[in-house]
Amino acid sequence: MDEAVGSKSRDLYTHAKERMPGGAQLLSKRPEMFAPDCWPAYFREARDCEVWDLDGRHFYDMTHNAVGSCLLGYAHPDVTRAVQERVARGSMCTLNPPEEVELADRLCEIHPWAERVRLFRAGGEACAAAVRIARATTGRSAVALCGYHGWHDWYLAANLGDDDALRGHLLRGLDPAGVPRELRGTAFAFPYEDRVAFQQIIDAHGDRLAAVVMEPCRYRDPEPGFLAFVRDRAHTVGALLVYDEITIGWRRCYGGVHLQLGVTPDIAVFAKALGNGHPIGAVIGTADAMEGAHTSFISSTYWTESVGPVAALATLDAMRDTEVWAHADRIGRMVQDLWRDAGKRHGLSLTVPEAHACLAHFGFDHEQANELRTLFTQRMLHRGFLAGVAFYATLAHTGDVVAQYGEAVDGVFAELAEALSEGSVTDRMEGPPAHQGFRRLL
Ligand SMILES: Cc1ncc(COP(=O)(O)O)c(C=O)c1O
Repeated sequence: MDEAVGSKSRDLYTHAKERMPGGAQLLSKRPEMFAPDCWPAYFREARDCEVWDLDGRHFYDMTHNAVGSCLLGYAHPDVTRAVQERVARGSMCTLNPPEEVELADRLCEIHPWAERVRLFRAGGEACAAAVRIARATTGRSAVALCGYHGWHDWYLAANLGDDDALRGHLLRGLDPAGVPRELRGTAFAFPYEDRVAFQQIIDAHGDRLAAVVMEPCRYRDPEPGFLAFVRDRAHTVGALLVYDEITIGWRRCYGGVHLQLGVTPDIAVFAKALGNGHPIGAVIGTADAMEGAHTSFISSTYWTESVGPVAALATLDAMRDTEVWAHADRIGRMVQDLWRDAGKRHGLSLTVPEAHACLAHFGFDHEQANELRTLFTQRMLHRGFLAGVAFYATLAHTGDVVAQYGEAVDGVFAELAEALSEGSVTDRMEGPPAHQGFRRLL
């Protein structure tokens, strides 16, 4: 068997970990999150759903595809062309890019309840701005939240309490080291669909609540009435409802998934797929809710460059014209079925949740689940696939790619079943098990 990871990639990452705390700029892109010592850390080229690593190896990407940021696939030609044209004419200037106004108008056309827009370049910072705006509008400090919303102080403040309040909110072990302890008591987490926990926050802190921040849904639709319940309770105490559409937006329909779910927020946040690999984030809201954006100082140099809005406009056109959400659903369902079938065929106990197929994922039901998922990833690398336990389909994933992936999964699941029956899972592993959640590297 060839080496799991090429030497250029391994050496550079070893050096990177000494130079850059955490090794990479995003936790989810640490090789340790997939298969320590095996995962190719760096890419040389990425096109459609194909990736060439630093050592020249070729892979099909069957993971979350850049953490959900490239719904149209890598280097989508229309988006690349629009960006190249703008860069050739100069993408930064003393004056402002007119495309930002066009993008703001377009986002309001797609979401007719929204009247005001501010643009950013990343998801977490857009969420932080949404919270700042909500606080400025209401004149209050506290925030109720559900799910993951980035790395900023307002969010990690939820973990300043006595317990790990953010446990279960997508990422485990988020350490609030460096977050001022004085922010304790400003952010309160509640589990999705837990009306009792949400009501307790409303009862205890309603009069100082600025906002309720949540994804309208993640892996499945909410139970009937839940979003309306949250909105009504929030409005009753004078708090704004903020939807984080950073990951689920555009994956279910043309716009935020809330358009489908029928309960509109006061503010919604977009990023990731909106720029298809180019940095752009947006906060949209009603005129009343966005009042605080007039009075609070929210301003940054690179929020005025042109690549982000230009990429977003081209991405919006391509998403609308291709109805990418329908394609992602179809491809995602094929992959969910393929996991279920291969699991059955080889007697592997798997859970493939009835999740939205655009954010498909599975888990091994076994005490060695983490070792199994690591070994799965290691063996899939040898077969030419970047693969883990989550798959976010893109426009670039074809039935043919899925069929090739299916053959590889079948072969690897057969080996996993054999390893389980022999008790040799650990012996077969080519490196340590994957990390789960956040932890220090060195
Ligand atoms: C729902 C949600 N909100 C916020 C973020 C943070 O966005 P970014 O990584 O662009 O800062 C993410 C990223 O995974 C996300 O999934």
